Amino acid sequence: MKKILVTGGAGFIGSHVVRLFVTKYSNHHIVNVDKLTYAGNLENLKDIENASNYSFVKGDITDAAFVDKLFDEHDFAAVVHLAAESHVDRSISNPLDFVLTNVVGTVNLLNAAKKIWHCSKDKPLPQNKIFYHVSTDEVYGSLGETGYFLETTPYDPQSPYSASKASSDHFVRAYFNTFNLPVVLSNCSNNYGSHQFPEKLIPLFIKNIRDKKSLPVYGDGKYTRDWLFVEDHATAIDTILHNGKLGETYNIGGFNEWQNINLIKLLCKVMDKKLGRAEGESEQLITYIKDRPGHDRRYAIDASKLNQSLGWKPSVTFEEGLERTVEWYLENETWLNNVTSGNYQKYYAAQYETAE
Ligand code: NAD
Ligand code: TYD
Repeated sequence: MKKILVTGGAGFIGSHVVRLFVTKYSNHHIVNVDKLTYAGNLENLKDIENASNYSFVKGDITDAAFVDKLFDEHDFAAVVHLAAESHVDRSISNPLDFVLTNVVGTVNLLNAAKKIWHCSKDKPLPQNKIFYHVSTDEVYGSLGETGYFLETTPYDPQSPYSASKASSDHFVRAYFNTFNLPVVLSNCSNNYGSHQFPEKLIPLFIKNIRDKKSLPVYGDGKYTRDWLFVEDHATAIDTILHNGKLGETYNIGGFNEWQNINLIKLLCKVMDKKLGRAEGESEQLITYIKDRPGHDRRYAIDASKLNQSLGWKPSVTFEEGLERTVEWYLENETWLNNVTSGNYQKYYAAQYETAE
C-alpha cells in the first residue's frame, strides 16, 4: 500500500487534504503528522479518524531526529507538506517561530526525503516519489491596482510570514537542482471554508457578527485578496500531486478578487439573513482600526497554467462557498467555542484591544 505523508493535516487546509485523500484513495495509507499547535485540532478530522487507511502521529517538524525516525519507519512514496505557522499578524509578533517551523522544519523534511529516497545529482530522479511543498501567493509581495502573479513573478515577500515561506520555497527548489529531489510546488491565494481558525478574516468576522462584537477592519479596508474555497484548494493539490511535472510550480487561485470592505459587507448581509436580523444590522459593527504594518495592498493570482496544463478550475462560486462556510460555523458552534477558549482570549486582547 502506497504511503502518503501529510504534514499539518490537523490544520485548516491540511484537514481538507487528509479527508479528500482518505476517502478517495482507499488503496493508499495517509499518515498525518502534526504538532497540534493552537491551529491544529484533531476535531477537524473526527469523521475519518477511524478509517483503516489513516493514522495520526503527533510530532514537531523542527525536531530533525523525530523527522528522520518517522521517515525510517515509513516508506513514504509521497510527502504533502502543509505544516506551517500561517498567520501574518502572529509573524509580526514572533518572527522566529516562523523561521523555525517554516524554514528549519521544511529543510528537516527535505533532508529526510533526500536520505530515504537516495537522491543525488549523479543519479536520475527517483521513480514514483514526490515531495509536494504547499506555499502561498504572499511570497510574490504586493500588486498595484492591476496585474497578476504568475509563476515567474520575482519573489518580494513583505511580512515575516511570507519571508519564511519564500525561504522554504527556495530551499525546495534548491533540493531539486542540487540533489535531484523530486519536488513540486504550488502557491495559492487566500483560502476560506470550514475548520479555519478564527484569527483569519472570514471566520473571525463570522464569530464577531454572531456575538455582535466589533469588526476590526485594518486601514482603509481597500486591501484586495483573491479568495478560494478550501475544498477547491484540496482538489488542486490532488491534481498537482498526481499529474504535476516534477520541478514545476503551479499558481492556484479562485479568479475571485474582493476588496476587504466589500467582502465584509457581503458577509454581513449573508449573516443577517441567516441569523434573522434586519438587513444592515451587522454592518453597524464595522470599525476601522490601525493598519497592519507592511500590509500588502493587493494579491491576485493568474492560475491559467494549472487550468491549461492540468485542467483544474474552482468548482464553486464565491457566493455559494461563502454561504456554505457561514452555515458550517453556525452549525458547529461547539467547535468555534472550543477553539476560542483558553489562549485565544489572550491573543485577541493583545492583537485588538489596543488597536481600536
Ligand atoms: P493552519 O495554521 O490552519 O495549520 C497549520 C498546521 O500545521 C496546524 O495543524 C499546526 O498544528 C501544524 N504545525 C505548525 N507547526 C508545526 C510543527 N512545527 N510541526 C508539525 N506541525 C506543525 O494553516 P493553513 O491555513 O491550513 O495552511 C496550511 C499551509 O498552506 C501552510 O503551509 C500555508 O502557508 C499554506 N497556505 C495557506 C493559505 C491560507 O489561506 N490559509 C493560502 C495559501 C497557502
Ligand atoms: P488574513 O485572513 O489575515 O489573511 P492574509 O493576511 O494572509 O491575506 O487577512 C485577510 C485580509 O483581511 C488582509 O488584507 C488583512 C485584513 N484583516 C482585517 O482587516 N482585519 C482583521 O482582523 C484581519 C484578521 C484581517
